[in-house]
Amino acid sequence: MACENMSHNKLFAAVFIERWAMPLALSLLITVLPGAAYSATARINYLLHCSGCHLPGGQGNPPNVPTLHRELGRMMGVAAMRTYLVRVPGSAYSSLSDEELTDVANWILEEFNAETLPADFVPLSTTEVTRARQQSLSDPLRYRIEHWRDYEQ
Ligand code: HEC
Repeated sequence: MACENMSHNKLFAAVFIERWAMPLALSLLITVLPGAAYSATARINYLLHCSGCHLPGGQGNPPNVPTLHRELGRMMGVAAMRTYLVRVPGSAYSSLSDEELTDVANWILEEFNAETLPADFVPLSTTEVTRARQQSLSDPLRYRIEHWRDYEQ
């Protein structure tokens, strides 16, 4: 019988996996998943709602569609530009909920602007995004030039 042929070591290994390793792996997954799910959802929402124009890698198609790399991080140091990301028409009028848009904006900043974000940057809150989104920019370029500067290219 299979059981008789099983060495003590194999039996011990099987019991170890069943009693300890599996529950441990499962509890680790449960601890790790919520964090992973947060950024995975933001990434998927970016791909679904923004990448059609800004491309999956965020490089855009300048000068028609701006890149989302580097400069946005620097802008975060200027109060008037903090919510600019969610006031541009592509963001403000997207079908994303306020919570989802908040996550996408923070994800763009962390994913494409890590090197330029100020060290003391505090992620955007949903409350800020809800309010800012209602003040969408009809002329984003003009606002950009008045409070920051023209595109880098
Ligand atoms: C239909 C194409 C399109 C889609 C979809 C789109 N954008 Fe844009 N985005 C643009 C264009 C074009 C501009 C330049 C400003 C303008 O004309 O609105 C821009 C500007 C921006 C800017 C300002 C960049 C800068 O350096 O000034 C940000 C940030 C931005 N978009 C984020 C987003 C996010 C986030 C989404 C998804 C929720 C999104 N966009 C969806 C076309 C798009």
